[in-house]
Amino acid sequence: MNQCLNEALQTDITCINEALHQCFASDADYAVLFDAMRYSLEAGGKRVRPFLTLEFCQMLGGQKQTALPYACAIEMVHTYSLIHDDLPCMDNDNLRRGRPTNHIVFGQGVAMLAGDALLTQAFAVASTSDAPNTVPAIQLLAECAGPFGMIGGQQMDLIGETTSYSLDTLIKTYHLKTGKLIACACLLGVLSAGFSKDSAPYQAAEQYATCIGIAFQVIDDILDQYGDETQIGKSIGSDLQQSKSTFLTLMSREEAFDYAKKLTEQAKAALASFEQRGVLCAFADSLLQRIK
Ligand code: IPE
Ligand code: IPE
Ligand code: MG
Ligand code: MG
Ligand code: MG
Repeated sequence: MNQCLNEALQTDITCINEALHQCFASDADYAVLFDAMRYSLEAGGKRVRPFLTLEFCQMLGGQKQTALPYACAIEMVHTYSLIHDDLPCMDNDNLRRGRPTNHIVFGQGVAMLAGDALLTQAFAVASTSDAPNTVPAIQLLAECAGPFGMIGGQQMDLIGETTSYSLDTLIKTYHLKTGKLIACACLLGVLSAGFSKDSAPYQAAEQYATCIGIAFQVIDDILDQYGDETQIGKSIGSDLQQSKSTFLTLMSREEAFDYAKKLTEQAKAALASFEQRGVLCAFADSLLQRIK
């Protein structure tokens, strides 16, 4: 792997994990809620989204430290989405981040509340930021997580279990369920570097993120069918079991990979005008080649 990317990943992930550890205290009368929140939040995870936040901030001349509350917030929203995604009423999975899923360990009631708590606490954490553009940043987080973002995509994903989707509908689903939080992560980095929503860097980041977001879910589909369970840390074959509409119901593994590859090239092209784009371009490539 690219040396600069490797170093950036190591530094950022250490910093993110330390900050996540401090995002909330506990209450002895209902400590189980906090145990369940930490169980999923601190189970590892690639930290793709908070890494993007810190790296976009840095590429645009901002201080990573100012973007850190947003980086934590996006990872907390993402982790909540995973806890709920795994519930029996959703994808009904029993392995996540190399551990039994939250509801398997804590029961469905606690898992539901742990997800809710991570979501709401994420907004409290985001609001501690002293970066510029705090209000637009928090608005963006709400938009990307909500019914016109990830939740909307999860609803489309559920409908896709009983409806055969066209490529366009599937792309919209992926753009919402996966792309929106990835875009949010990148754009929070842009906002914390002091660039507004109508700036050129914001638009470039949005293009990059839209492309890697869809590509990320296409690779996730491939891994769900062909990946190694011990590597990816989640149960494989889940999509087939739930009769999901995925890229692999519409095309071959090779065609799906090529599709993701083209999107990755487009993502990198969107950053062509930024001199310091090396890490983010190498990261886009690494997401395409990932095995977990
Ligand atoms: C899994 O996300 C859910 C999808 C959107 C495909 P990640 O693959 O980023 O999961 P973690 O955070 O590394 O566990
Ligand atoms: C995840 O899609 C989207 C979320 C918003 C959590 P998947 O259901 O394919 O993600 P995995 O494979 O369970 O991580
Ligand atoms: Mg799902
Ligand atoms: Mg799932
Ligand atoms: Mg999946």
